[in-house]
Amino acid sequence: MKIALLGLGTVGRGVVEVINENKESIEKRAGQAIDIKYILDIREFADDPINKLITKNFDEIANDDEIAIVVEAMGGIEPAYTYAKSSLLKGKSYITSNKELVALHGAELLEIARNNHVNFLFEASVGGGIPIIRPLNQSLTADEIYEITGILNGTTNFILTKMREDGRAFEDVLKEAQELGYAEKNPEADVEGYDACRKIAILSSLALGEHVNFQDIPTEGITQITKEDMIYAEEMGYVIKLLATCQKQDASIFARVSPMLISKVHPLAMVNDVFNGILVKGNVIGDVMFYGRGAGKLPTASAVVADIVDAAKHTGTNIISFWNRDKVELKDKKQVKTRYFVRLQKDMDSIQNSVKEIFGTVEEVKSLNNEYAFITELDTEVQFAEKMNRLPELKVMNKIRIEK
Ligand code: HSE
Repeated sequence: MKIALLGLGTVGRGVVEVINENKESIEKRAGQAIDIKYILDIREFADDPINKLITKNFDEIANDDEIAIVVEAMGGIEPAYTYAKSSLLKGKSYITSNKELVALHGAELLEIARNNHVNFLFEASVGGGIPIIRPLNQSLTADEIYEITGILNGTTNFILTKMREDGRAFEDVLKEAQELGYAEKNPEADVEGYDACRKIAILSSLALGEHVNFQDIPTEGITQITKEDMIYAEEMGYVIKLLATCQKQDASIFARVSPMLISKVHPLAMVNDVFNGILVKGNVIGDVMFYGRGAGKLPTASAVVADIVDAAKHTGTNIISFWNRDKVELKDKKQVKTRYFVRLQKDMDSIQNSVKEIFGTVEEVKSLNNEYAFITELDTEVQFAEKMNRLPELKVMNKIRIEK
């Protein structure tokens, strides 16, 4: 089977390496040899034998009937979207690690694949090397899934882990994550939570069978988390994690990405460094945890190559995915109930009384010098915001949600 690879960046290189390294076992599992015939890249790789496969012209790939599978590891919406559509319409399966593309156009591309009896596969788009798309599509189909909560971004998990363990500053650890090849080209996508947001949109769309628009998911990143927050968390028996969640609450669906304080005994609390963890709750199976390397060259390439094998095994057959274009209406974020941990600068003695008057019962926390810290009762986000506004002129050092 001849395939074409679009993009020879970190993941693309990994795909070439995995195909060469595990050639024999991959061939056995796919039932045929997998040969890379083209690599699309704008660069030259002069001293590299791979250079003979390089093309700069996508049409050469699209018009070559020998190419059965197109593998994209470029990222970004364009030209990936155009290439995906064109490949599928020409009867080629399309495999991608590109979460922006899948979150935005997943439902449409799956439909085109279905109509053309080929496959649009994207295991590597969420959780790096962790199998999570295939389990949602094929293994957990007996269940009504009522919650997916995950640590879906390796870079931010690496940063939070190092900040906590080594007392290091945010910027310093971010640089290391970029050097290790975990971070996106633009680290904003990682640290502001946009990457995790697209990933939870993909997982929830697959679990619900309808389209969860990533733009509707309230998203906060980790840039406001400080060393002091880590000290408080430790003292209270919590760790801080960037959690992406989608939950059925009564008759509605609620989704969010934000830093959360979670108990040290929460199943996701032990997920550290670049690892991702995904907790799926189903009404029949109960809780299921997926754990593994969420970013990096080879783990991501492992998921891409597994998709290549699957596509090769299903030549001429569409593997049905449950994700149509109807849009899911998400619950208004203001009505979601949360408990907050709040740190205030203590520049007035009566602060305790003011907090009590406005918030009612709060749980006081042993505070750092010149601060007053507490945990609120469960409240809607809108009520919490109103109460915070009623506080007298006080400097809010930080406020972080607490997982129930
Ligand atoms: N930047 C992403 C992460 C890469 O850190 O998780 C994998 O999607």
